[in-house]
Amino acid sequence: MQGVLVFLELWLALLPIQAAPSSHLIHRAPRLLPERALQANESYDGSCTWTDCTKWNLLSSNVNFRLIFRPTVTSTEVRPPQSLILPVDTIDELSSAECGPCAADADAFRRLTLNTGLVNETEAAIFGTDFCSVSFIVCIRLPDGAEGYLMLLWDQMDQVDRWAASLRREGKTVPFPSEVYELEAILGLWIWSIPFEGQLTEDIGNLATLRLLALEHTHMYGRLPASLGNLTSLKVLSIVGSLQEVTFSGLLPPARLQSLDFLWIMDTSFGGSLDELANLTQLKYVHLRRPGLRLSHVPSTLGPNLTSLTLSDVGLSGPLSDGFGSTWPYLLGLDLSDNQLSGPLPSALDNAMNLTYIELCCQGGTNGGFQGRLPAEWGSLTKLEFLDLEQNNLTGAIPEQWVNLSSLQTLNLGHNGLSGTLEALGMLRNLKDLYLSNNQFIGQVPDGLGECRNLMFFSAAYNQLSGSLRAALGKATDIRGIELCCQEETNGGFEGSLPAEWGSLTKLEFLNLRENNLTGAIPEQWGNLSLLWGLDLRTNRLSGTLDAIGWLPNLWELSLGNNR
Ligand SMILES: *[C@@H]1O[C@H](CO)[C@@H](O)[C@H](O)[C@H]1NC(C)=O
Ligand SMILES: *[C@@H]1O[C@H](CO)[C@@H](O)[C@H](O)[C@H]1NC(C)=O
Ligand SMILES: *[C@@H]1O[C@H](CO)[C@@H](O)[C@H](O)[C@H]1NC(C)=O
Ligand SMILES: *[C@@H]1O[C@H](CO)[C@@H](O)[C@H](O)[C@H]1NC(C)=O
Ligand SMILES: *[C@@H]1O[C@H](CO)[C@@H](O)[C@H](O)[C@H]1NC(C)=O
Ligand SMILES: *[C@@H]1O[C@H](CO)[C@@H](O)[C@H](O)[C@H]1NC(C)=O
Ligand SMILES: *[C@@H]1O[C@H](CO)[C@@H](O)[C@H](O)[C@H]1NC(C)=O
Ligand SMILES: *[C@@H]1O[C@H](CO)[C@@H](O)[C@H](O)[C@H]1NC(C)=O
Ligand SMILES: *[C@@H]1O[C@H](CO)[C@@H](O)[C@H](O)[C@H]1NC(C)=O
Ligand SMILES: *[C@@H]1O[C@H](CO)[C@@H](O)[C@H](O)[C@H]1NC(C)=O
Repeated sequence: MQGVLVFLELWLALLPIQAAPSSHLIHRAPRLLPERALQANESYDGSCTWTDCTKWNLLSSNVNFRLIFRPTVTSTEVRPPQSLILPVDTIDELSSAECGPCAADADAFRRLTLNTGLVNETEAAIFGTDFCSVSFIVCIRLPDGAEGYLMLLWDQMDQVDRWAASLRREGKTVPFPSEVYELEAILGLWIWSIPFEGQLTEDIGNLATLRLLALEHTHMYGRLPASLGNLTSLKVLSIVGSLQEVTFSGLLPPARLQSLDFLWIMDTSFGGSLDELANLTQLKYVHLRRPGLRLSHVPSTLGPNLTSLTLSDVGLSGPLSDGFGSTWPYLLGLDLSDNQLSGPLPSALDNAMNLTYIELCCQGGTNGGFQGRLPAEWGSLTKLEFLDLEQNNLTGAIPEQWVNLSSLQTLNLGHNGLSGTLEALGMLRNLKDLYLSNNQFIGQVPDGLGECRNLMFFSAAYNQLSGSLRAALGKATDIRGIELCCQEETNGGFEGSLPAEWGSLTKLEFLNLRENNLTGAIPEQWGNLSLLWGLDLRTNRLSGTLDAIGWLPNLWELSLGNNR
């Protein structure tokens, strides 16, 4: 398994965001929708009409990164606003002079920030003179006419960051400031990674203007006050625990959050049922990951407008209901990972024609999981970009209809009982990450994979592949890692020589061909694999010298044992 671990490290090293500890190869950071963040060259140049484009850029990139608001930027288009959560591209920024209701909160802000140590007396003067210029305040008018501001206490904003970092250095926490409850024009309270401690009080019900309440990675704990149910304008509620022992707990408040579109609860210790919180029919985005709540079944009250559903590590078990997914035509993302589901995969998901993200991995490891075949119906999901079915109990072949999954970028079928050939996968020209290890696939690596010019990782270790290693893969020149070890058990594994053509894979960093039946010498062309740092050729029948790879500058893990 050493090779697998190295492969994992390589994979994680290339990821910009932190990785969830997990035994499988796919990175599964919390994500709601499979849309990507703004790229550096997509800063809305020309359309940022705000006086302070920095705020706009920070807001829009964070909104996309955290996917709290409905993301409006996709790889190919800027979508027109469809619904109001807080669509950043249609928010008007207001100056202090333009924001009528803002001034009323200046005094409360002065006290709030002084008491917490966020600003000093000199700096606090700004609230009285130019409230909206403060770096963590964004004054806005929403498309429905509401005026007010967002208070963004994020630890990556300069001033807030310096303050939060010094608190952390000194190991200090700060009581959650009660002045918050006096804010009359606040539209969004968004706290991220600030060492506030304490509980919310019933006074939270005073903040009638709130559209968004996000308390994420604080040291706060205890139950949510019942008055939260009074926030009838609230569209976004995000409660993320601290990953420490004390965190939010208790029952969710019985409430009629009739405007709520977006519910995100993660790493908390809530109990009871989800139904307490709201009539769920209008919710569009539901994200529960380790919420403490244990759900025996997917809530039947989820309505037809559901756009994204994550119920991860919530204790779901047994088969999904018949026709699961057929009533959600707008569904874009589904994540039911880390439960104990079983029975057939929900083939009716093909009714969600725009589905782009399916994450159903890890249903109780070897003790069950989804069973039966891969649904041929899913072949019509032509917008599907991400599909993870790792660690289930799936059998049968890859359906030929799947050749139509033309948008697929990530496919993980690892650790199942799948069989048949890989031929269909050669048609999926947008593949980036392909994980097929620990199955019973047979035959060769399809030549078509060489045409997948975005392919970055390909792992099919522990299968029953055989035949020669195909020269065609040498055309996938973006590839970083190839893991084809350990095929020899039944059919003898790959045989023949190492393809000279793979010498063109100049971005290759890791190659594992251990435990096959390969012969001949290491081709001199492999001397061009200048980024290669891990090469495992153990237990083959290779011969010749190491001249070709002797000078590779980055190679530091070379395993050649058990050859000739
Ligand atoms: C941004 O950069 C990427 C990669 O460098 C490129 O593919 C894309 O076309 C660029 N987008 C714009 C709007 O220039
Ligand atoms: C307040 O903070 C600013 C900026 O950090 C600093 O320049 C100034 O000297 C401080 N004023 C007082 C009175 O501490
Ligand atoms: C707010 O909620 C509390 C607790 O649910 C309730 O007692 C109170 O009447 C509510 N206030 C308003 C104004 O609705
Ligand atoms: C859901 O809404 C219906 C009708 O608006 C109401 O009768 C019912 O009590 C609500 N359920 C909950 C749990 O709030
Ligand atoms: C679904 O969305 C439509 C359009 O926004 C709205 O009219 C309808 O009431 C919503 N349905 C539910 C159950 O919320
Ligand atoms: C699917 O996406 C297309 C193009 O973006 C859109 O026109 C269509 O309305 C969407 N269908 C549904 C059911 O959301
Ligand atoms: C996998 O599914 C088969 C039926 O297809 C069943 O016999 C077997 O017990 C399942 N394996 C596990 C580990 O549950
Ligand atoms: C792929 O999609 C096309 C167009 O919808 C269809 O004609 C074809 O039969 C599909 N191929 C397979 C193998 O299902
Ligand atoms: C390895 O390949 C040779 C032919 O090159 C074949 O004779 C031998 O049986 C193969 N070994 C295994 C274990 O299949
Ligand atoms: C390495 O690449 C260069 C440029 O692509 C090529 O000219 C050379 O023949 C290659 N070397 C080997 C040993 O294949």
